[in-house]
Amino acid sequence: MPKAELHLHIEGALEPELMIEIGRRNGVELPWPDAESARRAYDFRDLQSFLDIYYRATSVLIREEDFYDLTTAYLRKAASQHVRHAEVFFDPQTHTARGIAIETVIRGIEGALRDAHGNLNLSTKLIMCILRHLSEREGMEIFRQALPWRRSITGIGLDSAERNNPPSKFRNLFELARREGFMTVAHAGEEEGAASVREALDILQISRIDHGVRCMEDERLVAELVRRQIPLTVCPLSNIRLRVFPSMQAHNLKRMLQRGLCVSINSDDPAYFGGYVNENYIEAADALGFERSDIVQLARNSFIASSLDTIQKQLYLNELQRYDEETP
Ligand code: HPA
Ligand code: ZN
Repeated sequence: MPKAELHLHIEGALEPELMIEIGRRNGVELPWPDAESARRAYDFRDLQSFLDIYYRATSVLIREEDFYDLTTAYLRKAASQHVRHAEVFFDPQTHTARGIAIETVIRGIEGALRDAHGNLNLSTKLIMCILRHLSEREGMEIFRQALPWRRSITGIGLDSAERNNPPSKFRNLFELARREGFMTVAHAGEEEGAASVREALDILQISRIDHGVRCMEDERLVAELVRRQIPLTVCPLSNIRLRVFPSMQAHNLKRMLQRGLCVSINSDDPAYFGGYVNENYIEAADALGFERSDIVQLARNSFIASSLDTIQKQLYLNELQRYDEETP
């Protein structure tokens, strides 16, 4: 089934095998001798215990070709799962903090995105995420460094540790980003509750919420999200692995869909959470008992919630409709 993926951290697509290989070629020491022992360490208690390992693993990424290879590996996998459009997050501050130039990061990722348009028949957008555990001043600094690349960057996002780092901490940065013409998104309502989603909406004035599952704790907020059709990019396997819900059966995705929220299914950090976008669809559908029409609606939402223009959206929606009509 054709679909879009809107919540994917490229650093979270670093499979242990590729991490070991790039680490070897760059002479970077890792706490894990091989891919199997790395995978065994991917047993998380919460968001922070994941972030500690995720940032450690990115230390192998040094040269432009490392970012190119990582991005190409993700795009090949996504194309093989009929992802027709991908909006890719990257975390430049993780790399510039280690002395890697932002142009090394962007050139590598951008080269892979460009090649994928031709070779894999897949459209993409790039979203630069600000690390919320760092200061707004540091966020401003990376934003300024990225401005020469603005034609390559569609949106500005907000990720990393949500606890104690509320959206309001980045009020000025997001106002500037909107003024400069960027689409804005933010992780909210993953680790923290509905109040965090409310802040992202009212103070940052974002056009899409990443995760957002805990919005369901506030009925007035839900009513507004439904009325305004603010998209929420839900990541079911991530939510289970980071213990936002105790089990897939306990996930609220079906309730969100039935309530009329514009929810989509995404993989977040597929190398860490046990699956790419199709595994997320399949495991959620099995556990929550989705009808075929629910699954098609989720894919439809993924295109509607994208930052593509109206004509491109319609072409993909037509493709999805054709698939639905022609596939038994
Ligand atoms: N939440 C916050 N920060 C992140 C995530 C996430 O799910 N994945 C990568 N960085
Ligand atoms: Zn995320």
